[in-house]
Amino acid sequence: MLLNVSKVTVQFGGVTAVADLSLEIGRGELIGIIGPNGAGKTTLMRVITGMVRPTSGRVFLKGTDITGWTIDQRVRSGLALAQQIVKPLATFTLAENVALACGSRRMGSPWRAMTTLDRKAELEQAKALLELVGIGAAAHDYPSEVPLGYLKCLELARALALEPDLILLDEPLAGLNQAEAAEMADRIAALVTDARSIILIEHNLREVVRICPRLFVQDHGRNLDFGPTQQVMANPKVRAAYLGGGAD
Ligand SMILES: Nc1ncnc2c1ncn2[C@@H]1O[C@H](COP(=O)(O)OP(=O)(O)OP(=O)(O)O)[C@@H](O)[C@H]1O
Ligand SMILES: [Mg+2]
Repeated sequence: MLLNVSKVTVQFGGVTAVADLSLEIGRGELIGIIGPNGAGKTTLMRVITGMVRPTSGRVFLKGTDITGWTIDQRVRSGLALAQQIVKPLATFTLAENVALACGSRRMGSPWRAMTTLDRKAELEQAKALLELVGIGAAAHDYPSEVPLGYLKCLELARALALEPDLILLDEPLAGLNQAEAAEMADRIAALVTDARSIILIEHNLREVVRICPRLFVQDHGRNLDFGPTQQVMANPKVRAAYLGGGAD
């Protein structure tokens, strides 16, 4: 098992953002996490990446308990994330932004990477990654010069630069029109390999249902269902959560 989230609960003051959630993911899987606003999807992802400590429960990566580990330790062990809000460094080109991520993996710190950036090797690797995500032609452009869709691809390339076993994506399709979203979704699906898994948090149900073989549904912090996509989408509780009814 690549990732095992076991009975995780997160409380923020009086709010239970994540309630006793468990989730297992193997190698080569693409899992979609869906659920209404405020369901605790991002909080669950932050528990996996180490940005939020769970109130209770454990997280295991490749069988090792990483619950108390720092974000850096997790990245070195194979985790990568792409955030809901895209924030590249404005004074660096797209290729340089990716090169910094390549460097931070090797040197353990983006700040050391920035000062000692070995332009050649890392820029070459960065350009290859930008090609892989479909925006190689914009390698020398600055973030302010490219459309949002390109910044989303940049975010993917930066995640790939960490050579992860598991990539966590939080709403990578948000803000894209339907054609761009479909293209981005295809790109994400193509990045899954026998060795690399992806967790995709997304509100664009059409695309999640199209590309994800399995879905994990969250509502009010709880898990409503986890299983094959068609089966989950046919679950009356899941439908009720989306219609705002509440099934129980
Ligand atoms: N740092 C925090 N401090 C206090 N409350 C928080 C914090 N982060 C999240 N919450 C609360 O936890 C709940 C779950 O939020 P979260 O952002 O995880 O939901 P989400 O499913 O990602 O929602 P969305 O689909 O809108 O992104 C919400 O009630 C939110 O207000
Ligand atoms: Mg969120």
